Amino acid sequence: MARSAIVCDSDAYANRRAWVEEYFDRTAADAWARLTSDAPVSGIRATVRAGRDRMRAALAGWLPADLAGCRVLDAGCGTGQMAVLLARRGADVVAVDLSRRLTALARERLPADLGRGRITFRAGDMLDPSLGRFDHVVAMDSLIHYRATDLVGAIASLAARTERSLVFTFAPRTPTLAAMHAVGRLFPRRDRAPAIEPLAEKTLRDELAALPLLTAWRAARTERVDCGFYKSQAFELVAA
Ligand SMILES: C[S@@+](CC[C@H](N)C(=O)[O-])C[C@H]1O[C@@H](n2cnc3c(N)ncnc32)[C@H](O)[C@@H]1O
Repeated sequence: MARSAIVCDSDAYANRRAWVEEYFDRTAADAWARLTSDAPVSGIRATVRAGRDRMRAALAGWLPADLAGCRVLDAGCGTGQMAVLLARRGADVVAVDLSRRLTALARERLPADLGRGRITFRAGDMLDPSLGRFDHVVAMDSLIHYRATDLVGAIASLAARTERSLVFTFAPRTPTLAAMHAVGRLFPRRDRAPAIEPLAEKTLRDELAALPLLTAWRAARTERVDCGFYKSQAFELVAA
């Protein structure tokens, strides 16, 4: 496996990243805070919350039950739900997000007792090599905003500093999703979600297979979660 730190440096990546940061840090921070809390939400958002709960459980279920001694990156951690789940299983989690507001909220929401685990929150880009090396990387619904080339470039960059597995989601390209296109319609215009880039599973597999950097990785499990307005697909890459 290549060990160099590859950074996704296309203009498209940088532009989309700036847009995503603006969206999650300002436009929809309050809506996102509510969605990720126990506060009541509308029927449509309740389906998204339920779907996200299923997806979080699916991704976390692909990691070892006991994560003691493992360094895990929660890449695009939002308000920290996944980070807490994994820390409670003993992981040393680095939870990074572009949004300072969401990482601040994640710190506020941090439960007092994480057992043997711990979480370090960082505001910034998940591809920052200074975050270090990891046993596992989890990127739940954080790469869905990037076009295929940049999503795969980000995966390659993360894989270069990951030892064991990389689990992430992509927005499956389906007729229904294309029609809904997608989570954005959940929100009023003022806090509408930024663009999501639907991706056919075959395209994802082909693009991953074409990357020399990923020859030491193999695609393992995949699972689609389709719950009302929430449609996302989990994908697992494991070090061969
Ligand atoms: C749909 S939210 C999901 C948050 C969290 N993973 C969850 O499932 O609750 C996507 C998050 O990814 C973050 N994000 C997107 N691109 C990122 C990047 N390049 N580096 C760090 N965070 C990123 C966004 O700021 C946003 O908080």
